Amino acid sequence: MKRFFSVKDVPSIADVVQEALVLKAAPYDHQELGQHKTLGLVFLNPSLRTRLSTQKAAMNLGMNVMVMNMDKDGWALETQDGVVMNGTTVEHIREAAAVMGEYCDILGLRSFPKLKDREEDYSEDLFNKFMKYCGVPVVSLESATRHPLQSLTDMITITEYKKVEKPKVVLAWAPHVKALPQAVPNSFAEWMCKAQEEGLVDFTIAQPMGYELSDEFTAGATISNNLEESLNNADFVYVKNWSSYQEYGEVYGVEDNWMMDNKKLSLTNDAKVMHCLPVRRDLELSSEILDGPNSLVIKEASNRVWAAQVVLKRMLEDLV
Ligand code: CP
Repeated sequence: MKRFFSVKDVPSIADVVQEALVLKAAPYDHQELGQHKTLGLVFLNPSLRTRLSTQKAAMNLGMNVMVMNMDKDGWALETQDGVVMNGTTVEHIREAAAVMGEYCDILGLRSFPKLKDREEDYSEDLFNKFMKYCGVPVVSLESATRHPLQSLTDMITITEYKKVEKPKVVLAWAPHVKALPQAVPNSFAEWMCKAQEEGLVDFTIAQPMGYELSDEFTAGATISNNLEESLNNADFVYVKNWSSYQEYGEVYGVEDNWMMDNKKLSLTNDAKVMHCLPVRRDLELSSEILDGPNSLVIKEASNRVWAAQVVLKRMLEDLV
């Protein structure tokens, strides 16, 4: 594996999930792979889970890890080509990425969207340039449009906790006070649509009018504006807020109550409830669910290690 940016970088979801579960059972079996190899984790935005779980995965594989908080400790990056750098930016991504590639065998990058210009965010210009100029394999730690390590984790978690062969999985929009990116729901939808093609899940998206995601990520999903109807027979409910894709980055007021609580949970097939975290209690998701027996959020966060470890293992195996 030379890059991990989207579900397209994984030939079979079933196979990568099974490999991750084997690693979970024997975390230190491949320490020789990472010996004398260095992973660099580059953050342009905050993180708790991605940072720690990816470091732990790398250490399990015997790697050395370096972390760079570019937003706080790095020079201000220029990403545009052909500009005279006489403003606030100090270093061009061409040099910055290339230099980091000299120090590291594998790099990870987190870069959130600005949510101002959809075309710019969805072009993934910064991420593509980083991958182009660093010269080593790159794992996405969340880009403007996708969060593939989270989605792989979610599929691992669904596989571990499913009680039926082909569970019904519902991605349910939730309220928030801020405009959040579409990266997590885009990515979750993209992975679930492929998992549905592989016969692994039955996938529904429930969202209020105006919060439709791009067709690029949702083709094959059942899409509804009715949360209660969608929850009928659900085995997993994946709760997540996102801002509007059509009116890019806008947050509309929604009249109906879209926060998952025990009353809504009673409509499901005793569904397990998931959220990528961080979560705002009693705004996005009720405390009664988070503290109750149906919540998988901590197990899900724990599984971030095995998602990162299987990706790093595949990259280490392909290093020349
Ligand atoms: N879910 C997730 O990516 O968490 P962090 O933003 O804390 O890494």
